[in-house]
Amino acid sequence: MSLFSLDQAAALDAQDPLHSFRQNFVHPTIEGKKQIYFLGNSLGLQPIKTASAINEVLSQWGNYGVEGFFMGERPWMQMHDLMTPMLSKIVGANPHEVTVMNQLTVNLHLMMASFYRPQGKRVKILCEAKAFPSDQYMFETYCEHLGLNPETTIVEVMPRTGSDLISTEDILNTISSLGDELALVLFSGINYYTGQVFDMKAITKAAQEVGALVGFDLAHAAGNIELHLHNWNVDFACWCSYKYLNSGPGAVGGVFIHERHHHHNTPRLAGWWGYDESTRFKMEKGFVPDSGAKGWQLSTPAMLLYACHLASLELFEEAGIEQLHLKRKALNNYLWEVLATIDNNTKGLVRYLTPTDPNQRGCQVSILMLKNGRNMYDALMERGLIVDWREPDVIRLAPVPLYNSFEDIAKFGNAFYEIAQSF
Ligand SMILES: Cc1ncc(COP(=O)(O)O)c(C=O)c1O
Repeated sequence: MSLFSLDQAAALDAQDPLHSFRQNFVHPTIEGKKQIYFLGNSLGLQPIKTASAINEVLSQWGNYGVEGFFMGERPWMQMHDLMTPMLSKIVGANPHEVTVMNQLTVNLHLMMASFYRPQGKRVKILCEAKAFPSDQYMFETYCEHLGLNPETTIVEVMPRTGSDLISTEDILNTISSLGDELALVLFSGINYYTGQVFDMKAITKAAQEVGALVGFDLAHAAGNIELHLHNWNVDFACWCSYKYLNSGPGAVGGVFIHERHHHHNTPRLAGWWGYDESTRFKMEKGFVPDSGAKGWQLSTPAMLLYACHLASLELFEEAGIEQLHLKRKALNNYLWEVLATIDNNTKGLVRYLTPTDPNQRGCQVSILMLKNGRNMYDALMERGLIVDWREPDVIRLAPVPLYNSFEDIAKFGNAFYEIAQSF
């Protein structure tokens, strides 16, 4: 008999106002078998309307050539401003504090150019230990680019011995002990490996109290957890849109810059697309930034990527961000109930890296397999449950409110338990 009743899970789905939203997505089918997809933390599923949104750009290009910037259903010049009101709700910002451009690592470098301004003894950068590798390489090479020694400039907050997580207390104490040596705090909003949500509000307040600036890499947070970047007074943030924001592989990134930095004197690396829009085409010498976060754009926007992003943001808008958070929490609580039941029945098989405190986690759960990890992963994939494997022994999964169901989770629980029985 199955450990988890599919009828009970289906009853939970029947009460879910967002249940039918999963029909707006293309669910992967491998060798004729429809998969259950749990990897919104890696690459979100494709909205069905993405294909027509891309085709719209292609038709506009075909019909009008370069005039597509000004003509057609949605002239390309307007696409950016169509997205920012929707995106700003997702990250808790004013629309003019958000811009859509480039990709995440590029944007992190650009934000370093604006907001990492070492001076005198104020040179240190504080980040989390084991940040995503691209962030680590960015810090290292950015320091070298300025002629600074990464070893002495970058300070990492580590988990305490015996813990997988970084305590807020340790982050705040390190900030205060660095004091006027601290130039910048740049953390992720959610650690990619453990799924730990950092207390962005408290980190921002503590860092600003010692005179440092604060930014966040929200790759795993945007479109996942509640964010209030403006009200938390965060200086800047960047994210990708291919994970929880479902905008496709290599999708266009996003940036938040608090409005207090929007003046012309904030240093930046500039390009023509960040030039004041009203006079951009006069092509004059001397950079004049556009108002708001748009003044950080560099290049002609990639309209095909914009189209994918817009198609996805429209679904967030339709579902409503509050409803999505309610469902995320309900799905996540159900998953943890399922995992607790499995744990009771399979002692000593797993340990959870993700915090048990619901306020410190989003969609993702990282399961450290104490034995038979790779066998478990292979067997889950074999059964059409798409999760991911992180060396040396971690399975990550992230049920997301736009397209996962309670039934998906019950099926995962039954499969996990049955496979564990076979070891
Ligand atoms: C936390 C984090 N930062 C940075 C990156 C790199 O993003 P990109 O490849 O879009 O530059 C990723 C990619 O998954 C990530 O998870």
